[in-house]
Amino acid sequence: MSRIIVLGGTGYAGSAIVAEAAARGHEVTSFSRTLPEQQTPGVTYVQGDATDTTALARVVDGADAVVGALAPRGALAEDFRHVYASIARIADAAGVPLHVVGGYSSLRPAPGAPRFVTDLSHAPAEFHAELTTVSALVSDDLPATPESLDWVFVSPAGRFGAHAPGERLGRYRVGDDVALHPEDGGEISGADYAIGFVDLIEQAEHHRAHLNLAY
Ligand SMILES: NC(=O)c1ccc[n+]([C@@H]2O[C@H](COP(=O)([O-])OP(=O)(O)OC[C@H]3O[C@@H](n4cnc5c(N)ncnc54)[C@H](OP(=O)(O)O)[C@@H]3O)[C@@H](O)[C@H]2O)c1
Repeated sequence: MSRIIVLGGTGYAGSAIVAEAAARGHEVTSFSRTLPEQQTPGVTYVQGDATDTTALARVVDGADAVVGALAPRGALAEDFRHVYASIARIADAAGVPLHVVGGYSSLRPAPGAPRFVTDLSHAPAEFHAELTTVSALVSDDLPATPESLDWVFVSPAGRFGAHAPGERLGRYRVGDDVALHPEDGGEISGADYAIGFVDLIEQAEHHRAHLNLAY
């Protein structure tokens, strides 16, 4: 059993990861600004703001793994990369691996090809800032962290999200930074993404790596 801290553990991706990790017997703490009405039994829900580095350090203290499941929306639209820089510093200082819920657009259609995010003409304009911000974590920010920080950035399939929760099928595939479904984006349910994500935490086989999960 590990102590797993999920920053944004009440959101779409985060709550699925919280539920999966708790079901496996891990000691799970969720951190978010608001507490959910429906709480997963056995999970500790901590209320706090990720822009507060003292609160972040407190919740990460004693953890075996930190999960970043925040989204660059609302108040975090501007602060997202800055907040992840703090999370990375705190995780590094604590010697704890950081697993980040990423986005499909930061993947590549083929080995060495530009990331999808370099041409967003296919995506609605209102999503461009979010896609660019999340992608910058894995293209710029995480690779620039000290080598001592163990990070894994896990992009989902293109058709992943609260608008398409899907079903738990109990299967997934793991790719590197090349999309498993470069043609149509592919799909994965929230529950199956969470299975793959918690497997990656438990197996700890990837280090400073960009991966993707899809059917
Ligand atoms: N197909 C795709 O590529 C795809 C689809 C969906 C999501 N994603 C990516 O996956 C990641 C997670 O997205 P999501 O849809 O799961 O997000 P979400 O449902 O909006 O959840 C965000 C979580 O972060 C928490 N949060 C927000 N601001 C916070 C703050 N300042 N301090 C502490 N907690 C805070 C929220 O709770 P509170 O508001 O209560 O604080 C919530 O728990 C994002 O990077 C997103 O871009 C990718």
